[in-house]
Amino acid sequence: MNEQPWTKSQTECIRDDLVDLFLSAGGLTGSEASEQLGISRTAVWKHIQSLQTMGFQFDSSPRVGYRLLAVPDVLMEPLLRRALPVDTDLGRVVTFAPEVDSTNRVAMDAAERGAPHGTVVTALRQTGGRGRRGRPWFSPPDGAWFSVVLQHPMPLRRAAELTLIASVVLRRALVGLGAGAVAIKWPNDLLLGGRKISGILAEIRADGEQVQRAVLGIGVNCNTPAADFPEALRDVATSVFAETGRKVDRIELVSRFLSGFQPYYDALVRGEAAFARLHEEWTTHSHTLGRSVRVQVGGQVLAGTAVRLDPSGALVLRMPSGSETEVMSGDVLFDDPIG
Ligand code: BTN
Repeated sequence: MNEQPWTKSQTECIRDDLVDLFLSAGGLTGSEASEQLGISRTAVWKHIQSLQTMGFQFDSSPRVGYRLLAVPDVLMEPLLRRALPVDTDLGRVVTFAPEVDSTNRVAMDAAERGAPHGTVVTALRQTGGRGRRGRPWFSPPDGAWFSVVLQHPMPLRRAAELTLIASVVLRRALVGLGAGAVAIKWPNDLLLGGRKISGILAEIRADGEQVQRAVLGIGVNCNTPAADFPEALRDVATSVFAETGRKVDRIELVSRFLSGFQPYYDALVRGEAAFARLHEEWTTHSHTLGRSVRVQVGGQVLAGTAVRLDPSGALVLRMPSGSETEVMSGDVLFDDPIG
């Protein structure tokens, strides 16, 4: 592991400061930017070129300098900060890269090197996006891929609530942005029209029974056209855009998620019943309850009817014998294709 204490790179800080300057001023000459940022005019020019590759558009003329014409919908700190409420500590530090292997991998590395609580790692695309159970996660440039560093300790037995809370809060954010009838599949998937639009992967570092830190990774298939999904995924995955014809504003989505997640996370850290407050909403929008399911738990497959979710996060199955079994984690394979 890299033992250097974590800091956001200087290049990224300067790039973000330059975006901030343009967002406030609209236009700047090369020498104004160079003076304000303490870098050479050539360095300013290089940053502008790199911003252009990310979708920023500038007009430039020798007399007026650079004028910002268009801002892309990418998850960069200056853009996200403007959308977040001031009292949110999730997303105060954001790192954005055009490409990483996995935002969860980068975030856990940063977390272990002391990245502040609430740091959000985002990327336009992932080359090694991680799904649950070691599966790959398809991460083209038009999705929202981000991971949140959570540095507060909590008992390990409460950790399952992180993904359940996240699924309800993310559903709210998506519905608020016009995604329609988003359903929740236990434990951590969001579905639209029966196919997956989002997955959540919480990775935890625990010391005995105590979680020391966690990374909450969220992937949302926002604006990917249906035809861009690999053949093998088309039956099981879709995007909000493919289902509704509406493009999702990713800055708005992530800021709604972060500000919505914060109070429940804080409650969880204080030892309060956090998911219990969302239990009814989860149940109302569940795609899992009432169905005959097979749940893969490790090497074992349990077949039964999903009757309820315990407020602790366990799925309760009624088995063919009539007895009830609680499952804390696993993969649900549907038997019964209703709805
Ligand atoms: C699942 O299997 O359903 C969980 C998928 C989680 C994907 C997200 S995308 C952002 C973050 N980085 C990763 O490598 N994985 C998570």
